[in-house]
Amino acid sequence: MLEALNTQPADKILALVAQFKADPRANKIDLGVGVYKDSEGKTPIMRAVKAAEQQLWEQEQTKSYVALAGDPGFADAMIGLVLGAEFPRAGVAAAATPGGTGAVRQAFELIQMANQDAKVWVSDPTWPNHLSILKHLAMPTRQYRYFDAQTGAVNLSGMLEDLKKAKPGDIVLLHGCCHNPTGANLRLTDWEHVISLMQERGLTPMVDIAYQGFGDGLEADATATRVIAKSMPETIIAASCSKNFGIYRERTGILMVVAGNDKSIRVAQDNLAYLNRQNFSFPPDHGARLVTMVLGDKALRADWEAELESVRTGMLALRSQLSAELQRLSGSDRFGFLADHRGMFSRLGTTPEKVAQLREDHGIYMVGDSRMNIAGLNAQTIPTLAAAIIACDI
Ligand code: LMR
Repeated sequence: MLEALNTQPADKILALVAQFKADPRANKIDLGVGVYKDSEGKTPIMRAVKAAEQQLWEQEQTKSYVALAGDPGFADAMIGLVLGAEFPRAGVAAAATPGGTGAVRQAFELIQMANQDAKVWVSDPTWPNHLSILKHLAMPTRQYRYFDAQTGAVNLSGMLEDLKKAKPGDIVLLHGCCHNPTGANLRLTDWEHVISLMQERGLTPMVDIAYQGFGDGLEADATATRVIAKSMPETIIAASCSKNFGIYRERTGILMVVAGNDKSIRVAQDNLAYLNRQNFSFPPDHGARLVTMVLGDKALRADWEAELESVRTGMLALRSQLSAELQRLSGSDRFGFLADHRGMFSRLGTTPEKVAQLREDHGIYMVGDSRMNIAGLNAQTIPTLAAAIIACDI
């Protein structure tokens, strides 16, 4: 049987992790996988998460199953975080999932179950795993223009023009904030145009929000998602806790479905639990419980928010430093977009050949499409990267 299998293409982001590890050069720089790193290159456990973990160790009496859709307390806490405390809870169906990727996968399956013909429109570019999962599920997929390589900003007119070709019932996959891989984001006025178009064309938004708190702040980063959820009859939201709680390996995420009527919410809730059961049965609880504890405890929450804010502002400072250093070396403003981008990533906007040259000649690792993880930098490595970019004639 097994000889009938084909080997699978390596995930480009994860393959880079192994390649970086194997590189013996001491001065190598890892700007690959989207994992936050502090100035010493460590991915710390956040203080509030550690404190919650200690409390949990003392208080938890059983490891018995919780519920197919996960702990309702986790859903309440996450709905509050993503959609805002005032959002009507009754208008949301939700199920905990193994990470944000689990939520994305379940969302696609839900869409497939509801409408076999729905095309999923994804930004060009998008997180490669979106495309990979869609392909795995054999779902019809289309791309809409998103990134303007000349300016490093969003090509809004191209995006709208392409989405006009979508048919009623199609899905528009949107990054709620901190677009991965480009770092270029829509402004609120741009979102209004996208929302109007989705309303006119009868399209359903699916928002992937994996970096809330990494861009302009916890509330600001959720604004687009909240406006979409309020404006559209139905919205699917896949949210991740991996980055903003720093609990990557705990696999903590949630899939939410927002709809205007009780019947839709009941049937969506039923299907979310069903999908969990088919795919893995009960979702992991440990990370979800930590998140619930942190969000539900005033002191822990304040500490978490403060630490997250310092992570965010630290990344913003790295952006400004890199952009300034490149301005100094190139004598031009052409890298100014790096300071305007938000979140963990920026697309430098160069060719795979130049990316390979940065890796081979300078030991600098970024994804082949020239996506850089800004958190992989520090005050010492910024001048090295900037000099290498100029040396490679980028
Ligand atoms: C990334 O884009 O690097 C992260 O989301 C990690 C991953 O799983 O790809």
